[in-house]
Amino acid sequence: MTASIVTTIGLKLAHLPTGKLRPEHIQKTLISLPKTPRLLLKPRYISVDPYMRTRMQPAGYDYIERWAVGSPLSGWTLAEVIASNGPSFKRGDFVVGHLPMQEIVASDGQQLTPVPEGSDPEAYLHPLGMTGFTAWVGMQRLGQPTAQDSVLVSAAAGAVGSIAAQLAQHQGANVIVTAGRADKRAWLHDKGFKSVLNHRSPDYIEQLHDAAPFGITLNFENIGGRAFTTAIESMATNGRIVLCGLVSQYQTRNPRKSPDNFAQLRQKNVAVHPFVVPDYLRYWDAFQQFMQPLVVQKRLAWKLDKISGGLDSVAPALIGLLNGDNLGKRVVEMP
Ligand SMILES: NC(=O)c1ccc[n+]([C@@H]2O[C@H](COP(=O)([O-])OP(=O)(O)OC[C@H]3O[C@@H](n4cnc5c(N)ncnc54)[C@H](OP(=O)(O)O)[C@@H]3O)[C@@H](O)[C@H]2O)c1
Repeated sequence: MTASIVTTIGLKLAHLPTGKLRPEHIQKTLISLPKTPRLLLKPRYISVDPYMRTRMQPAGYDYIERWAVGSPLSGWTLAEVIASNGPSFKRGDFVVGHLPMQEIVASDGQQLTPVPEGSDPEAYLHPLGMTGFTAWVGMQRLGQPTAQDSVLVSAAAGAVGSIAAQLAQHQGANVIVTAGRADKRAWLHDKGFKSVLNHRSPDYIEQLHDAAPFGITLNFENIGGRAFTTAIESMATNGRIVLCGLVSQYQTRNPRKSPDNFAQLRQKNVAVHPFVVPDYLRYWDAFQQFMQPLVVQKRLAWKLDKISGGLDSVAPALIGLLNGDNLGKRVVEMP
């Protein structure tokens, strides 16, 4: 066990954004490490996710601790063990955990998921990690699509949406997916989706009507804002909505604003099921049992959107994600 590393570089929130996140809101800082840590970890990939912007909101998100000025930033991380003081982990093991965004992380080994030998470590940041879990909870457990459903999945070239849409496809549903850029829609076509729409297009409502003339029976909502309002217009009577996220609203002062046409949901008898994954962690093992075979047998398409540059790239990568730049699950590659 090396005890020679005593400081490292980490990231902190330097200012609370009131509108769009800017690079100067996130700064590097010197971090002291414990003298005799149980484990030293070298992060290989740090996940950047839309919820990180909600942690910077002044109120309203009680399922995760909010970041204040000076808070150290953290995120889901794939890391390699570079030194170990105990039998549970050995040098060279890969682990996944919610870790501080640092060049080197000291850990007591708690709350770390070991990546099983022979598995693809990168899968544990996406289909076998939190985004896969979100898709599975929202679609498989709550949405429960059948072959009779017309399922709408917005932002389906993104992390959660891409997995959720494929889960609905596996159930034989008529799956309608959306993406805001041509290359993302080409990727979705390539993955076998027939109805690929552009939720950013002015004629999105007409596109939806053509794809589901009798209405959407299950909407997996990722975007919020205008896309959500349009989806509500297109809902079938007795339909259901799994409310996963409202990413287009996270950089506004009213990130949880309801769509103006919310009252239509009563008229159409649509059930709405909002959820956050921390409430479902008891299903983690069931999720792994379901998802691992799909990943191993390559029955699920997934893509990491890797941004190089280490900690310096976290702010631009997150800013880009919040603008919709990513195709697949965005992660920052550590040197
Ligand atoms: N409920 C939970 O526990 C939970 C857990 C994880 C994530 N989520 C939610 O799931 C949703 C997807 O998250 P993700 O991690 O998979 O992200 P993501 O889909 O990989 O990235 C976000 C995507 O949203 C789309 N988007 C549409 N309108 C946008 C706008 N105005 N501004 C920015 N982006 C816009 C962009 O795709 P286009 O280019 O196609 O527009 C962008 O690529 C988010 O709402 C997130 O908060 C919920």
